[in-house]
Amino acid sequence: MSDMLVKLWELPPLEPAIEDASARGVIVRRALAPEKPLVLAFVRTHWPAWEAEVDAAFARMPVACFVAARGDALVGFACHDAIAPDFFGPTGVVESARGRRIGYALTLAAMHALKAQGYAYAIVGGVGPAAFYEKAFGAVAIPGSTPGIYAGMLRNASGRSPTHRITADARRLWVGLQADDSRTFASTARRRAEARPTRMRAGVRAACGSAFRPTRGNRPDP
Ligand SMILES: CC(C)(COP(=O)(O)OP(=O)(O)OC[C@H]1O[C@@H](n2cnc3c(N)ncnc32)[C@H](O)[C@@H]1OP(=O)(O)O)[C@@H](O)C(=O)NCCC(=O)NCCS
Repeated sequence: MSDMLVKLWELPPLEPAIEDASARGVIVRRALAPEKPLVLAFVRTHWPAWEAEVDAAFARMPVACFVAARGDALVGFACHDAIAPDFFGPTGVVESARGRRIGYALTLAAMHALKAQGYAYAIVGGVGPAAFYEKAFGAVAIPGSTPGIYAGMLRNASGRSPTHRITADARRLWVGLQADDSRTFASTARRRAEARPTRMRAGVRAACGSAFRPTRGNRPDP
């Protein structure tokens, strides 16, 4: 999980990547501030550990987060300047949309944003799939960068209550049903929701308010 360095002066042009994604029915663009709740819920559903960094990216202006959407459904995101200036990440593409150069377009868009800010290099923080960055962006590992900026970071210290966890779990189910275009995920989420007892249904109501529409097997308690 070392950091990697990307030469921003050697970036490929962005436009062809955006057009390629568009030809596949996916729009890649900078997120808008009003989309923050949707994007956070999406990230919470798929990569909950990255929610706080995405939140931080939305605190910047212009918003330091790019999204990929197929119609109304989010399929991916990429942030920059979320943990420190000039850092790229986090980023993610839902499994059902991977391998179609969407991650490439998102990452390239964020890298171009860093270049436009005046940086010569971008740092990819705590890299998972190093081969993706090597292959697509010529990234090189930074020696001695583990754990880097994450050294001593508190974990499992959110102080959130069990009630919050129930609500968050319920919201994940709801967002999965609403926003995820994967039928498998949706049917799994629905099965889970239907199997959940009172606490979960109450959580769904708390998380979704009036937007919650009870369905068969997921009705409010009498
Ligand atoms: C990494 C991730 C964003 C890539 O998204 P993607 O849309 O599937 O990637 P793309 O289709 O744009 O891939 C671009 C190129 O990189 C290659 N590639 C993608 N993932 C790769 C991997 N894990 N290892 C090696 N090469 C990879 C692709 O084959 C493609 O090659 P091509 O130029 O020959 O077509 C996605 O796999 C993901 O969300 N992973 C889970 C979250 C994660 O690890 N995020 C990164 C944290 S640092």
